[in-house]
Amino acid sequence: MKTTSDLKSLVNNYLKSLNEKKDPKNLYEPIHYVLSIGGKRIRPILMLLAYQLYKDDLEKTLPAACAIEVYHNFTLLHDDLMDKSDLRRNKPTVHNVWNANTAILSGDAMLILSYHLLAKAPQENLSAVLNEFNKVTLEICEGQQYDIEFETKNSVKAEDYLDMIRLKTAVLLASSIKMGAIIAGASDEDTNLLYDFGLNVGLAFQLQDDYLDVYGDPKVFGKQTGDDIVSNKKTYMLIQACNRATGKVKEDLEIWIDTKEFNSEKKIKAITEIYNELGIDEICKQKMNEYYDKALNSLSLVSVSDDKKKLLQDLAAKLMIRNI
Ligand code: IPE
Ligand code: IPE
Ligand code: MG
Ligand code: MG
Ligand code: MG
Repeated sequence: MKTTSDLKSLVNNYLKSLNEKKDPKNLYEPIHYVLSIGGKRIRPILMLLAYQLYKDDLEKTLPAACAIEVYHNFTLLHDDLMDKSDLRRNKPTVHNVWNANTAILSGDAMLILSYHLLAKAPQENLSAVLNEFNKVTLEICEGQQYDIEFETKNSVKAEDYLDMIRLKTAVLLASSIKMGAIIAGASDEDTNLLYDFGLNVGLAFQLQDDYLDVYGDPKVFGKQTGDDIVSNKKTYMLIQACNRATGKVKEDLEIWIDTKEFNSEKKIKAITEIYNELGIDEICKQKMNEYYDKALNSLSLVSVSDDKKKLLQDLAAKLMIRNI
């Protein structure tokens, strides 16, 4: 069995081999740029780890695993443009280095490239894999649409937020694992349990991403912190703060959310102080742990030896502290 770091190298080497220099440069260079500035590669690694539970001939599933990574990077180009984010993996975002049109068009090219790679999945699984990919990529569009709509909506419920992050983030982790299981010929029961594992890891992962957007060290996080607060993202933390705040704190929170012209640093500081006062960090961590426990429970029911499951278990544990 290959270790998680072996798998990361496999993925990175395969992605490197795709990067031949082509014209027009302003279409292909941003693709090279985003694929070469790092990234945890968790989705392809999850897919390969799921495959490895059953089979060893990883080369069969490597192109499909890399398809997911190229697809994920495409979503980042468009997401950073939509979220007006300046930093990704500690580097300026594509729309900042180039421009918005480039982020759109190079992103589009990456989506096509991801299908090109997915088509290299073994012939006997191609239809099942393609169906899963089509399902998940559309779900992500739905999640991204809700995410943007919620910015200007005042009464977002926690359950709406949780469904939004399920769609924009968790399903891709879940489907990556599922596709690995499908290509390996796992039973339906195992495939579904592995999907649930990925889904719950994904929910915990996005809750943590939102947490780090407030409390993370930008150098480690690789993204500018406070962006979610500035754009009124209806994160679990903001929703819980709105539900729990009373009196003057509630008034202040509402004023910050409603004010159109503001100093970003002041807004970030004020809302973070409100979170601190209300203990929102702990509430967010509790929710994360709830999903993490659910994930481990699903994994424990998969019918392969504990020995083999250990790599997936370790990866989930490392993800909870973003140590990958
Ligand atoms: C970023 O995903 C987008 C989210 C779903 C939070 P990752 O945190 O996996 O980003 P990279 O690929 O490792 O940079
Ligand atoms: C990312 O959500 C979801 C997708 C890219 C589909 P975020 O907007 O929270 O991710 P970051 O924080 O920009 O990585
Ligand atoms: Mg974003
Ligand atoms: Mg976003
Ligand atoms: Mg985020």
